[in-house]
Amino acid sequence: MSLTGVKIVGVGHHVPARVVINYDLEQWLDTTDEWITTRTGMKRRHWVADGEATSDLAAATGKAALEYCGLDALDIDCFIVCTVTPDYYFPATACLVAAQLGAKDKPAFDISIACSGFIYGLTVASALIRSGVYRRIMLVGAETLSKILNREDRSTAILFGDGAGAVILERSAENSFLSSELGADASKPEMLYVEASGSRRPIDAAALEEKRNLIVMQGREVFKIAVNKMIAATDAALAQAHLTKADVTFLIPHQANKRIIDAAAHYLEMPAGKVVTNIAEYGNTSAASIPIALSEFVRAGKVKGGDLIVFVAFGGGLSWGAVARRWSLGAVA
Ligand code: ACO
Repeated sequence: MSLTGVKIVGVGHHVPARVVINYDLEQWLDTTDEWITTRTGMKRRHWVADGEATSDLAAATGKAALEYCGLDALDIDCFIVCTVTPDYYFPATACLVAAQLGAKDKPAFDISIACSGFIYGLTVASALIRSGVYRRIMLVGAETLSKILNREDRSTAILFGDGAGAVILERSAENSFLSSELGADASKPEMLYVEASGSRRPIDAAALEEKRNLIVMQGREVFKIAVNKMIAATDAALAQAHLTKADVTFLIPHQANKRIIDAAAHYLEMPAGKVVTNIAEYGNTSAASIPIALSEFVRAGKVKGGDLIVFVAFGGGLSWGAVARRWSLGAVA
């Protein structure tokens, strides 16, 4: 039996206890539940408490994924966390997660590509397993975006939530990973970025005063590019796998905005029943949004063996990507 394939054997998700509803935002922002609901599809989002960090959410979701498939952290060969809200510049959040879970001396690293993080992560993790480097990988998407939100900017403060989702990938005779299409274009990084967050513009007193350490987004422009890139990436991933739109059982898109999802689904000819959304509950959780949606969907028993799932995302970078997988969630080998 040749073990050159990869499949997902575990899923998990975890969100902070604090819920922020649209009405709460109305208390300090010039906005309304009606505006937020009709323009974004969001009703609620979860924000961490003071002192709660990305690695806490990531470790909790990793634990849930391990329990789902009856594995222990010591069974994992490599830990990957996709995040743009790490605990520190270094060490990598994945190192902290591995330690919190009780793994010892195992490789661990982060992937930082904003909302496309989980798509890039699936591609990297699947390639590491298929090429024989590792047998089992824990892949987590985790964010605490509430920590970098300008809570006085109504165009972004309403959009983002905190949370984490995880999958455990394992070498397998079957191959559920069919194709990947990734892309990035940083010709206009300022369309969606945190200006004072690194070596180009370190956080100093002036940056804090001017709130340059918080998310800035040119929403309308990003919206248009997001729709186009998500459609093109999905089409390309399907073409690579010699599949058509009609073959897709479920599309799990990054939960950026319900109108972006609806527009992309419309052009991809996906009826609402094929498109997985949970944006009303969580808002945009960046790299965490797809694995949270996947975990909820799988745990609700809605996915069956043989289903073709396309994951697609778009985000800061600008970056985008789509992955096509034939579902074969199975028992641990
Ligand atoms: N409440 C009330 N009014 C608002 C709010 C609000 N929360 N936010 C903006 N408005 C106002 C604006 O000020 C503007 O008013 P004006 O016409 O008087 O100037 C009006 O509403 C329309 O503003 P738009 O920006 O055109 O609103 P739009 O319908 O485009 O929605 C939104 C804004 C929700 C941000 C949308 O553009 C969007 O979702 N963009 C893409 C987000 C995204 O995909 N990000 C990528 C992933 S994030 C990541 O990678 C980290």
